[in-house]
Amino acid sequence: MASARWLCLLVALLSSSVAFGFPRSPSRPREKRSVVEEKAGDIEVYSTKVSCKVTSRFSHNVVTTSAVNRADAAKEVFFDVELPKTAFITNFTLTIDGVTYPGNVKEKEVAKKQYEKAVSQGKTAGLVKASGRKLEKFTVSVNVAAGSNVTFELTYEELLKRNKGKYEMYLKVKPKQLVKDFEILVDIFEPQGISMLDAEASFITNDLLESALTKSFSGKKGHVSFKPSLDQQRSCPTCGETLLNGDFIITYDVNRETPANVQIVNGYFVHFFAPQGLPVVPKNVVFVIDVSGSMSGQKIKQTKDALLKILEDIKEEDYLNFILFSHDVTTWKDTLVQATPENIQEAREFVKNIALRGYTNINDGLMIAINMLNKAREEHTVPERSTSTVIMLTDGEPNVGESRPDKIQENVLSAIQGKFPLYTLGFGRDVNYNFLESLALENDGFARRIYEDSDATLQLQGFYEEVANPLLTGVEVEYPENAILDLTRNTYQHFYDGSEIVVAGRLVDKDMNNFKADVKGHGALTDLTFTEEVDLKEMEKALQEQDYIFGSYIERLWAYLTIEQLLDKRKNAHGSEKENLTAQALELSLKYHFVTPLTSMVVTKPEDSDNQMDIADKPGEASYQPPSNPYYYVDGDPHFIIQVRGNKDAICFNIDEEPGTVLRLIQDPITGLTVNGQIIGDKGNSSNSKNRKTYLGKVGIVNAPMDFRIEVTTEKITQQNGAAQSTFSWLDTVTVTSERFSLKINREALVVSFGEGITFKVVLHQVWKKQAVHLNYLGFYVLDSDKMSTKSHGLLGQFFRPLAFKVSDFNTDNDHSKIHATMLVKKHRLAVTRGYQKDYRKDVHNGTHVSCWFIHNNGQGVIDGVHSDYIVPDLF
Ligand SMILES: *[C@@H]1O[C@H](CO)[C@@H](O)[C@H](O)[C@H]1NC(C)=O
Ligand SMILES: *[C@@H]1O[C@H](CO)[C@@H](O)[C@H](O)[C@H]1NC(C)=O
Ligand SMILES: *[C@@H]1O[C@H](CO)[C@@H](O)[C@H](O)[C@H]1NC(C)=O
Ligand SMILES: *[C@@H]1O[C@H](CO)[C@@H](O)[C@H](O)[C@H]1NC(C)=O
Ligand SMILES: *[C@@H]1O[C@H](CO)[C@@H](O)[C@H](O)[C@H]1NC(C)=O
Repeated sequence: MASARWLCLLVALLSSSVAFGFPRSPSRPREKRSVVEEKAGDIEVYSTKVSCKVTSRFSHNVVTTSAVNRADAAKEVFFDVELPKTAFITNFTLTIDGVTYPGNVKEKEVAKKQYEKAVSQGKTAGLVKASGRKLEKFTVSVNVAAGSNVTFELTYEELLKRNKGKYEMYLKVKPKQLVKDFEILVDIFEPQGISMLDAEASFITNDLLESALTKSFSGKKGHVSFKPSLDQQRSCPTCGETLLNGDFIITYDVNRETPANVQIVNGYFVHFFAPQGLPVVPKNVVFVIDVSGSMSGQKIKQTKDALLKILEDIKEEDYLNFILFSHDVTTWKDTLVQATPENIQEAREFVKNIALRGYTNINDGLMIAINMLNKAREEHTVPERSTSTVIMLTDGEPNVGESRPDKIQENVLSAIQGKFPLYTLGFGRDVNYNFLESLALENDGFARRIYEDSDATLQLQGFYEEVANPLLTGVEVEYPENAILDLTRNTYQHFYDGSEIVVAGRLVDKDMNNFKADVKGHGALTDLTFTEEVDLKEMEKALQEQDYIFGSYIERLWAYLTIEQLLDKRKNAHGSEKENLTAQALELSLKYHFVTPLTSMVVTKPEDSDNQMDIADKPGEASYQPPSNPYYYVDGDPHFIIQVRGNKDAICFNIDEEPGTVLRLIQDPITGLTVNGQIIGDKGNSSNSKNRKTYLGKVGIVNAPMDFRIEVTTEKITQQNGAAQSTFSWLDTVTVTSERFSLKINREALVVSFGEGITFKVVLHQVWKKQAVHLNYLGFYVLDSDKMSTKSHGLLGQFFRPLAFKVSDFNTDNDHSKIHATMLVKKHRLAVTRGYQKDYRKDVHNGTHVSCWFIHNNGQGVIDGVHSDYIVPDLF
């Protein structure tokens, strides 16, 4: 029976086209989907418990939710948990009417096959996907029979990392309905003793604070509990809605009487190192900042604001410089200069006057910075005891100069030679983050995402604070030879104040009596060695007396850290080395039941081992995909963007015409395909056509040999196949396939294919209804034109054959805000301007940036003839 209950499953990295296995009211916004799907009261969630146990920074978290279906029909029950991206899921079980279905961790490929099988049988549900900045979302749904109840239990583990002087645990609280039995319980055990503990939540009112939240710590133990009664959960005394919705954050730190602490249990050890009170080592820092055109607007303003704030915090003994890169590189000073008040003042002026240019030459920006730091060292123009750092910020991908990511990595690696760290900051959504991360990891640094948001300035400052106070350089953690196995990373370029170095490993001799570890590093004034000696017997006794939490936590902590580091190393490995790292990480993930990017969680029905469902996949950083080549589309007001075959660069132009005008986009005499588009105007009734925006409002696609046509408007889609006509609304989810064509509609886009090699996409831009001026409009994309003939014509179609052009004579406006150049094309010399447009093929809401050369005057000179040649009387 139970098999009939599994529902359609989806797994991470979801394309928006994945359909759920149940009808969804189209007017319901997606976020509103909740534990109670339809009518409130049908599904009662009567208990939600979050239990977190932290031992020595290693947290073990169990989220349990129980619900009962009070309706008289089967209902879908959802279980949503948001967990930290750095956590690994370790277990998931589902209990329906007392029958438990346990989870197992399997290799991803194996799990995927089972998943595909389960899906083909129309069963199961489960997914993890990135959600917000720090969290990812785990979702499972099951169909529960009338009167039945279900319990979900999810377990995940994480090593809490010390950052700016504290450990932070994030719990997302979002029960979506009043829950009779709601509770968060956190128990912390830290052998060094707890020095501070706090818990706060964005949604907590004074009343809740006093009565529902308790927090306390003493000695080695800390405790937080949050247990709001039903009434306390109400958003108002008579409301049926819950006010619990937001982040619940627990922060704590441990005593730092000794610089290090070693713990050993069952032959595994962990060594924490965070010395206090050392003088800060002066630093030499070069900021390498992207000033390409796509940084325009908020991004460059926020970057400048952050740099100005950072300048306030730079200490006088530090040295600094700024390097700006676009198609070329500008440096503030030829060499690093000391942060004297005069220089800081000058630097502020420099930052304020940063102007944007074009292109993104990451390679040259970085190489100049690295060479400058190397030279300063060689020529002793910076203090002997100082740290060097490169901080690079970009919002795009390299596209001029050396633009091959692997080549840039090679250049940077051989220039830095492990002498200092490189930090990379990826601003916004259009960065090749995998590349930035590889670049940083390979050079002892790390990468950070800066989210395009109102707090981007704070995010940038926050990053800088983390690396602002180096206390040691060249840190090496050493253990007696031949006493230790399977050591995690034990050398660090810099130790920053407020952070912590964690090394774990295995003892060769489990029964050894004494454990000794040395940490060596160069301080601001002298070289330092910190020695830690441990009497094993005494320690084991002390820890056992506590008998506090799960006994093997150090072993699991070691496994967590090892897997994390193997996965990082794997990002830069190739060939057999990569295979070896993958094999090692996989073996450990399976052994310790961690859902990592190499494994999946699979739930098995006890009586039927073939019948499994894939429950949890860990998404990696969403992998960046640059727009594929070539591309042709028209979108916006209306912009034609064409990435020409055989040329890396794109061209773009506008067509300014009256609303109502129909333009020929494609006409192919060989395939018999024609695409036309009609222009609409915004609601503004400005008589001055310059101020009025126009968009694509209707698209007509005709396949003459097939006697097939589609008309797409912002309201509906009409398909006519011979004499048969069907009309769909944008709210429908429709797939029509036949031998000759396929049509897919999914609320925001329509994709039509005429066999392999010809695929078009129309996207619907929906503008908020009440907005005075704008109305909904369309974008038209040629996804695949392989089978279109080179005899094609039309504003897009003529570019299906190669077009040669060359751009030269770059120059910028006085305020450097725009790049102008000369384009040689079809024997014309055209004045062109660097433009930035958006491509909404993959993401209808946000789009991705594309750069192009903008041709003025309705594309004159680059299109055949003049634009009015492309005006046709009507859509068909
Ligand atoms: C998963 O959780 C279930 C229920 O708590 C438990 O019985 C089982 O042993 C756990 N599995 C693992 C591998 O920890
Ligand atoms: C859950 O279901 C079982 C079996 O149907 C029942 O005995 C139990 O009381 C139910 N629990 C709740 C809280 O409804
Ligand atoms: C990886 O390589 C090391 C030696 O470089 C070898 O000892 C180890 O067995 C290999 N691991 C796997 C899983 O292949
Ligand atoms: C259009 O014109 C009318 C009358 O002139 C005016 O009342 C209305 O506000 C205008 N609409 C817009 C969007 O400007
Ligand atoms: C679009 O961007 C916003 C804000 O940056 C983000 O919250 C949202 O998830 C993005 N949408 C998609 C579909 O990625």
